[in-house]
This record gives sequence, structure tokens and C-alpha cells, in this order.
Amino acid sequence: MTQQLSVKHLLGIKDLTVEDISQIFATAANFKDVINRPIKKVPSLRDTTVANLFFENSTRTRLSFELAEKRLSADIINFSASSSSVSKGETLIDTVNNILAMKVDMIVMRHPKPGAAVFLSKHVKAKIINAGDGTHEHPTQALLDAFSIYEKLGTLSGVKVVIIGDIMHSRVALSNIFCLKKLGAEVMVCGPVTLIPRHIEALGVIVENNLRKALNWCDVANVLRIQLERQDIKYFPSLREYIMLYGINREMLDSLKKEIVVMHPGPINRGVELTSDAADSRQSIILQQVENGVAVRMAVLYLLAGRQD
Ligand code: CP
Repeated sequence: MTQQLSVKHLLGIKDLTVEDISQIFATAANFKDVINRPIKKVPSLRDTTVANLFFENSTRTRLSFELAEKRLSADIINFSASSSSVSKGETLIDTVNNILAMKVDMIVMRHPKPGAAVFLSKHVKAKIINAGDGTHEHPTQALLDAFSIYEKLGTLSGVKVVIIGDIMHSRVALSNIFCLKKLGAEVMVCGPVTLIPRHIEALGVIVENNLRKALNWCDVANVLRIQLERQDIKYFPSLREYIMLYGINREMLDSLKKEIVVMHPGPINRGVELTSDAADSRQSIILQQVENGVAVRMAVLYLLAGRQD
């Protein structure tokens, strides 16, 4: 029997229990079987209407949620801030309440402001899924990342994962840290001193500034993009220097003591954090992450929609 999630909304991994995450993974594994069948659709969300509100650019998350909703037979409306009345001064709550007046049951929202999903959940009567809020959390990305590691290695317990790059501005890093720690992985963060938040050790992670040492330590490297759009000042002297110190290439992977798994949440800046021969190597599970994203988002939508309040 399907257990209920302990939360009404998915606002962040911080709020989830280990049982919630296990339930999401078990449900995602079932949906992964479904989406690999010739008939990929199930009627689970028939008569449920989901609004996808994207106040910030997205390729993977937006398309993955939309496909997940379609596979579950939900009715969908899509909204992007650039083509909406937000540009005429309408507030977030007014925008969402107008959408909800059209009888929408669930909101998937990406927003540039940290805390936007939490704020919305306190002011509107719909289930909210956070699809990334500024530098705060990106819970479905962390779930699909952890699910992909589990699928590849068969466990998370004791697995050594290093998250590399712009930790300071990354919602993916924070959600991954919460998720991996809850599931028993050992987590390291690696990057320039200026891109690692002070006191991050308090979250139970190891800090390493030397890329080679980090790669020799880990089983899995989750490589992040430099988030130039969130950087108000320069955090490193030049991109050229960043590539020299933190760029990963095939030669470097081949020189390690063991074969590690390479991940990236996308979008990749090829030639910066990863060269193409590293991103497209057989060690990379980047496209499996994208595939798993649909199944994990189906699981989250299904479990939240079915929750009795
Ligand atoms: N990984 C991720 O969130 O990608 P998008 O910004 O394209 O959605």
C-alpha cells in the first residue's frame, strides 16, 4: 500500500523524512517501468489540473515536469513570467490566486527569489512543488540525482559524493547535501574558497579546495555550473584560471585510482567545468539523470496529489 508523504507541499528536501524519500524512490522506480513501455501513460492524475509557473528560465525542469504531468494524464497550464502580466506589476500572490480561480489543484513553481515557494504555500490553497527558488533549494533535482546514484551503485549508504564548483550560489548543492546526508552518503564540497559558503561544515560535509584530492576521494562527482547570473561580484580572477584549477577532462578522469561516476544537473558549460570528452564519457550518467527526472517528478506529483489533508 502507498504510504502518504509527511508533507503537503514539496518545498525543500530539508522537510522530507527518509521514509518520504524511500517512498518517492519506490514510486519513481515503478513509473520508470511505465515510461519505458510502449503505452507510457497512466490515468493517475486524470481530473487534476497542474499549473507550471516559471518565473526564471529552465529547459530540463520545465519540460520534465510537463512530460511527467502528461504521462499521469493531468490537465496542464503553462506560464512564463516574460509573457505574463507580471511585467505590468501584478504580485506573485495575485498572479497565483487568479490562476487558482480557474480551478487549478497543484502549482509547480520556479522563481529567482529564495523562499518564494515557502511564501506561496502560506498564502494560497494549492499543493506547491518547488522547481527551484533562487539559491535556496531544488528538491526534485536532488531527488533525481540521488535516485540516479542509487540506480548506478545500488546504495547511497557510505557512498562518497563530491559536489564541485559554485557551491555558494547553487540550490542544487544545498538540496543534494540535505538529500545525500539523509540517505547515509558521505558528502564533500570542492571549489575555490570564495565559492564555498563559510561554516558549510555545520551541514556535515567535508570541504576540499584541491580538485585532484577530491576526485581521488570520491565515488561520484556531481559537477556544477558557475552561476554567473547570480554573482554580483567577481569570485575568481578569470574563467581561464577556474578551468585550470577546477575544470575536469578525460585525462584527469583516466589518471584517478578508481573509475568514478560523473554527474551534472545541467545546463553544462562545455569546456568550463567539464570538457566534452568527460561529459560524454562512459563514466557520465548525465542523460540518465535527465531520464530519471521524469520518473521522479511523476512520483512526487502522484504522491502529493494522493495525499489526504
Ligand atoms: N537542472 C536544471 O534545473 O536545469 P534547468 O535550469 O534547465 O531546468
